[in-house]
Amino acid sequence: MSIQELAGTPGALGEPLPRLEGHAKVTGAARYAAEHTPSGTLYGWPVQATVGRGRIRSIDVEAAEAFPGVRLVITSANALRLADAGDGELLVLQSDRVAYRRQVVALVVAETAEEAREAAAALVVRYADEAPDSLLSTTQPALYAPEKVNAGFATDSEQGYVDAALATAAHTVDVEYATPALFNNPMEPHATVARLVGDRLEVIDSSQGTSAVKASLATLFDRDPESIRVRAEHVGGGFGSKGSPRPCVVLATMAALMLPGTPVKVVYTRQMMFALAGYRTPTISRFRLGAGTDGRLTAISHQAYSQTSTVQEFAEQTAEVTRHVYAAPNRLTTHRVAALDVPTPRWMRAPGECPGMYALESAMDELAEATGIDPVELRILNEPSVDPESGLEFSSRHLVECLRRGAELFGWPERRRGGRPTDGAQGRGRFLTGAGVASSIYPAMTQVSGATVTALPEGRYEVGVNATDIGTGARTVLLQIAADALGVPAETVVIRIADSDLPKASVAGGSSGTASWGWAVTKACTRLRAQLDQGAPLPPEGLSVTVDTTEEVGAMAERARFAFGAQFAEVRVDLDSGEIAVTRMTGVFAAGRILNPRTARSQFLGAMTMGISMALHENGELDARFGDYANHDLAGYHVAVSADVPAIEVVWLPEHDDALAPMGGKGIGEIGIVGAAAAVGNAVHDATGIRVRSLPIQPDSLLGELAQRGR
Ligand code: MOS
Repeated sequence: MSIQELAGTPGALGEPLPRLEGHAKVTGAARYAAEHTPSGTLYGWPVQATVGRGRIRSIDVEAAEAFPGVRLVITSANALRLADAGDGELLVLQSDRVAYRRQVVALVVAETAEEAREAAAALVVRYADEAPDSLLSTTQPALYAPEKVNAGFATDSEQGYVDAALATAAHTVDVEYATPALFNNPMEPHATVARLVGDRLEVIDSSQGTSAVKASLATLFDRDPESIRVRAEHVGGGFGSKGSPRPCVVLATMAALMLPGTPVKVVYTRQMMFALAGYRTPTISRFRLGAGTDGRLTAISHQAYSQTSTVQEFAEQTAEVTRHVYAAPNRLTTHRVAALDVPTPRWMRAPGECPGMYALESAMDELAEATGIDPVELRILNEPSVDPESGLEFSSRHLVECLRRGAELFGWPERRRGGRPTDGAQGRGRFLTGAGVASSIYPAMTQVSGATVTALPEGRYEVGVNATDIGTGARTVLLQIAADALGVPAETVVIRIADSDLPKASVAGGSSGTASWGWAVTKACTRLRAQLDQGAPLPPEGLSVTVDTTEEVGAMAERARFAFGAQFAEVRVDLDSGEIAVTRMTGVFAAGRILNPRTARSQFLGAMTMGISMALHENGELDARFGDYANHDLAGYHVAVSADVPAIEVVWLPEHDDALAPMGGKGIGEIGIVGAAAAVGNAVHDATGIRVRSLPIQPDSLLGELAQRGR
């Protein structure tokens, strides 16, 4: 279905419209930030610290300045002074302190990228170095209880008496799960081109939200926000790493302000991405579950540990999700964070929910084993009638339906092996197969956004909304939303996004973009339609309506709003090599109204793929001597590729929810990764009887035990 095929049909919401910019992307016509090269562009090359912690004694700038093409070397000695914009990682080049290895200590600006790189390598930096403290553990002395965890959630929460309930429970599980540091690795590394034109700062940035970048730059450089324009027309992925400004945009902007009129481009290398873009914190989750003989949970305890840096507190809400999934009268969730000599973690697809649910859904599998109850049935048994944490009604909740439908489609429990320990006699040939299940949950959030729409002569419309499309299809879906609200054919609407000169809008994050921007678009279009219907005159320059949704979002009824899902995975384990392959996966989701089935399917599929990648491949390998992730490139850090990804079945249930933004969707960017890794891990246990409690699960996680059993 193309926009031409829909021609003449009013409204296009719910249609599988292909991406509007698809042709431009596959033909290379779509330009990403790094591909903008205004004439006279200079190139900034970040110089990164080679020690894990300490102080810069001296930087020999002259050697670098003498290189051909070099125009400027910025260090803390001559850097512009920055004001705090709420993120210590953005205070680049402000002091001689080194807080982690590969932190930026200088920026070399030259006429070509090659010259900048060569001169950067020639820069001699002398350090007074100290031994970094970088290893997270549950006994790490740097652990503390933050005031709050991310998104403003309570650090600790207890209802009832967990210890007492556990002491008397018929069945208990007391286990610890660990996930490593994970790196977002969008296809397009971070990049910025900045230029001061007169008094106006023009920035092209690879970002998930230009309103936020504009606000941060205004604070950091003490400038009038209206003198700043940030654009991000095409963005090659982000997964959260571009959800807030990163050092890249600050470095390029600083150089541009120091060289008025000259465009300055800074592009991260893939290696730089592992220190300067944010990453998913490693986590440790201790789970204690108690249940009666009937399998009903009497106690849930989730104690989460994660890391942050010494430059900025990032307290991920790992255990927060556990507050909303299953009913239990006694409940404890806690968070402890260690401030270590490492880069600051940041958002990565379902930050908190993803590692938290890996642990909860793995622990539930262990409880199923302990109670002898089928894992699907155990989850259904513990379905709450209201949000267990707040007592609020759910706006809608169809987890049980997802589990049942998934079981049917996947072939559950027929495909289970039963988690029997292997011996030489078991398994067919060299392989064992097994199946696992996990629940998914992700909050359905809506943020305040603005939008503007103009009716133009000859029945054409122009919509402006400062959304960013990081590859999700946001641009396309927003056009569909606009056409639907205007009641006009989609081909009569043009849409402009990703420009901070448009009304302020929320970031492409928290799976909230479509709901937040779409609501503003709907409101603007509905108002305009009403004015036109009442016979408002249409001046030659067009009739415009600009709105924001402060009132509407503020007036939303109090409900627990979440999308839900169920994931089923089948794995095959090679008894000789320990290799694990996911052979089949089914995901069933209930996420409200699906606004574009084509782009939605890609979101679920991509996130489930990322879950497989998390379960079996991705692993930030910390070298604690340096506090550095040693495998900081795509040769050493394996991300699932086509050969690792089997046929994935994605299904969604029709779900009506009238307590959401008016389009009725819950957001779908992140839920697909939540629970996926647990489903894979549970399948590995089902196949082999081996419980691996630390990701990723790799051949050497299994080989020792397989060998001991005589294979
Ligand atoms: Mo996403 S981690 O909310 O950009």
